[in-house]
Amino acid sequence: MTEHIQYSPEKDALVLLDQRYLPTREEWYVCKTVNDICEALVVMVVRGAPAIGVTAAYGCYLAAREVAGVADWKPALAAKLEQIASARPTAVNLRWAVRLMQAEWSKHPEFSLDELSAFWLAKAKIVHAEDIETCKAIGASGAGLLADGDTVMTHCNAGALATAGYGTALAPIRAAVAQGKKITVIANETRPFLQGARLTAYELHKDGIPVKVACDNACALLMQRGLVQKVIVGADRIAANGDAANKIGTFGVALLAKEFGIPFYVAAPVSTIDPETADGSLIPIEDRTPREVTHVGSTQITPDGVGVFNYAFDVTPNRLIHGIITERGVLTAPYTEAIAKLFK
Ligand code: MRU
Repeated sequence: MTEHIQYSPEKDALVLLDQRYLPTREEWYVCKTVNDICEALVVMVVRGAPAIGVTAAYGCYLAAREVAGVADWKPALAAKLEQIASARPTAVNLRWAVRLMQAEWSKHPEFSLDELSAFWLAKAKIVHAEDIETCKAIGASGAGLLADGDTVMTHCNAGALATAGYGTALAPIRAAVAQGKKITVIANETRPFLQGARLTAYELHKDGIPVKVACDNACALLMQRGLVQKVIVGADRIAANGDAANKIGTFGVALLAKEFGIPFYVAAPVSTIDPETADGSLIPIEDRTPREVTHVGSTQITPDGVGVFNYAFDVTPNRLIHGIITERGVLTAPYTEAIAKLFK
């Protein structure tokens, strides 16, 4: 797949494949300022926890450039970093990336603004490159969980488009396919933004991995008919006890998997685990614009004046999760201990 997050030295800008228009149009969105970055995050030009972390890292560089000429640039820069970190509340990777950049800066308090800009650009490129390697390691950790001939259900898009490349939930699938296993994917369509129908189907189809799209409400029937052997989803934030926030609808898929005895896995980099959040009840859930529910494209589908719910995420309790597939191996219950060990 084309690299969907690119730093352009000619434009001195971050250039993003605009995910709002996939699969029918491949348009590029150019971010030159912190406001551009935040807009891209909020309207979901770029989305998926690791991808927004990488975007935030480049955003820090753009923020440093933007405060050039401000006499008291340090507080101005801090405000811009906070603007980036709070663009979306649920995925911890946004804050993780901003904190990482701040921590790197704190090692060089003597830097001038020019030095800091150059340093952060180099650092953002490293974060970008490392994310792909991390995803490949998640693939290597999880490939053995899949058997030749398995059909794997996934929800939302936790693939190349949600990361710097390769994906998290799709990583074990890609790795198993590379080992010669025949794997078929069921992509739940994922109302209302349709990440499954539009994005997961787009990237798997492009890469020649068999994929079928199912309406979200077909999940129980497909499982009841024995058409699903495993479920693998991504995560936006995993609490210290293993409760995992992911795209709205994931919790329901996990409950159904339990009912039908189907292993349910979460695949995520260690940067998605938030040891400061004790359990899932403390994870903030993004409440997005009603328009995503009231309209499909430009067509209104609900009556004028009717309210809607548009919570973007839900939290799957740790008891429903068979394993958390990370770049450092597969964590299993009891998760509090497994996660504490990881951060020791
Ligand atoms: O609202 P989105 O599209 O950013 O939500 C994305 C998801 O829920 C993904 O499953 C999650 O971020 C993991 S991405 C590797």
